[in-house]
Amino acid sequence: MKLHHDQSMELPFAKNPTLQRTPKIVLLITLTLILLAIISLHYPLSGLINSIFISKVPSSPSSSSSVQEPEKEIIISSEKCDIFSGEWVPNPEGPYYTNTTCWAIHEHQNCMKYGRPDTDFLKWRWQPDGCELPIFNPAQFLEIVRGKSLAFVGDSVARNQMQSMICLLSRIEYPIDVSYTPNENFKRWRYKTYNFTLATFWTPHLVKSKEADTNGPTNTGLFNLYLDEFDEEWTTQIDDFDYVIISAGHWFYRPMVYYENNTIVGCKYCQYDNVTDMPMYFGYRKALKTAFRAINSLNNYKGITLLRTFSPSHFENGLWNQGGNCVRTRPFRSNETSLEGENWELYMIQIEEFKIAEKQGRSGGKKLRLLDTTQAMLLRPDGHPSRYGHWPHENVTLYNDCVHWCLPGPIDAWSDFLLEMLKMEGIRSFEEEKNKIYASSGKNMRFR
Ligand SMILES: *[C@@H]1O[C@H](CO)[C@@H](O)[C@H](O)[C@H]1NC(C)=O
Ligand SMILES: *[C@@H]1O[C@H](CO)[C@@H](O)[C@H](O)[C@H]1NC(C)=O
Ligand SMILES: *[C@@H]1O[C@H](CO)[C@@H](O)[C@H](O)[C@H]1NC(C)=O
Ligand SMILES: *[C@@H]1O[C@H](CO)[C@@H](O)[C@H](O)[C@H]1NC(C)=O
Ligand SMILES: *[C@@H]1O[C@H](CO)[C@@H](O)[C@H](O)[C@H]1NC(C)=O
Ligand SMILES: *[C@@H]1O[C@H](CO)[C@@H](O)[C@H](O)[C@H]1NC(C)=O
Repeated sequence: MKLHHDQSMELPFAKNPTLQRTPKIVLLITLTLILLAIISLHYPLSGLINSIFISKVPSSPSSSSSVQEPEKEIIISSEKCDIFSGEWVPNPEGPYYTNTTCWAIHEHQNCMKYGRPDTDFLKWRWQPDGCELPIFNPAQFLEIVRGKSLAFVGDSVARNQMQSMICLLSRIEYPIDVSYTPNENFKRWRYKTYNFTLATFWTPHLVKSKEADTNGPTNTGLFNLYLDEFDEEWTTQIDDFDYVIISAGHWFYRPMVYYENNTIVGCKYCQYDNVTDMPMYFGYRKALKTAFRAINSLNNYKGITLLRTFSPSHFENGLWNQGGNCVRTRPFRSNETSLEGENWELYMIQIEEFKIAEKQGRSGGKKLRLLDTTQAMLLRPDGHPSRYGHWPHENVTLYNDCVHWCLPGPIDAWSDFLLEMLKMEGIRSFEEEKNKIYASSGKNMRFR
């Protein structure tokens, strides 16, 4: 897929120091031992050690007739490979759960229940250009997050991701409900065996917002957005989380009145005579900036923040409320579409604001990462509920849903990405330890 801005997009891990490819053998062995020791300290699971040896993609799969161990290298996939850039390839083994093995599927994403006739969309996996992205391994994931906590901060697509993860993990364990409020928008789940907590925080705009009119000019409500104010429903709650995945986007299409310093500064399609109309990008950028400012200002928060990038919708032949629908049954290949228009604008705002915040947070020890799912999801027009998110006679607002993702479905790959990123964090800690070891041994060794 060609992004219009391919050169400007940096890999999230591009600043990692890279291991030298041709070090002295002894040094390599020493490093390997240190690596194994440190990784096993971080993750007491021997299986993980194997997984950090990324198998090389064989150049011609049929050439090896003899039984061969895959060639192993201590090479971190993201150093040479952007896991977020690639293609969907057939995966006959999918899906990894169904609506009968998993109870966590939201009604409106239970596409098979509502009669979706085709099943090919369940049989794809993401193949990055130049390396492998393993399918989510629930046992390995639960070992890595043992004693930790993960929060999803965002809208219903964030909830969609959490439910996908619960279903993928259900082969090992189901969580118990430990929510602190009956409000379904703020769920908290606990995996007892692993002492792992999952939570969702509902904040479709990431900043403080109020529904000013449930109808509004488009019958989708009119919201007041306080662009410079934290949404304390989540900002006061995430201090203790180890991982926080933030995301937002789709709600910024609706009519909104923008406030700063408690004063109206503009609006998006509010149809007030005396208020200037501003594009949604104005509000989106400021809201994202404020969300990052909140995270970077939390002194007690030591977690890793991931910005999950915009998840494009796929309405064709009309807008969502003008008969648009998504009826494709196959993924696009990367050369069949490209990120453009509003999707591109929102994505670019995310990348730009992420970079600014990442830089600002670094001095305070904040860790920001990109869970850059946009390209992969752009290629999945076949993964939405369309009209199979409800019974045909039901009168729902989003009749053809081309925004959310069927479960099971392509959103399950977000857990593949996440697990790979958590493994990378182990490697990062190793790099930091290694640098400390060499610094303290007085040697001025650089591995660049
Ligand atoms: C699961 O999907 C099947 C169709 O594949 C449907 O008949 C059934 O009602 C669904 N079950 C649940 C619990 O959603
Ligand atoms: C569970 O994990 C939390 C951190 O998330 C920790 O404070 C607590 O002591 C752990 N509990 C047990 C029983 O291990
Ligand atoms: C915010 O508004 C108050 C009064 O409403 C004003 O005194 C203050 O200077 C404003 N602050 C900014 C940053 O504009
Ligand atoms: C716009 O007009 C309405 C009613 O005429 C008024 O209540 C509101 O304060 C005005 N807003 C601004 C920003 O002047
Ligand atoms: C896209 O690439 C595939 C495989 O490389 C090729 O078969 C196909 O013709 C290309 N499609 C377009 C629209 O360029
Ligand atoms: C669906 O609901 C909307 C709003 O509640 C109403 O205006 C519309 O007439 C309903 N359509 C049908 C077919 O019942």
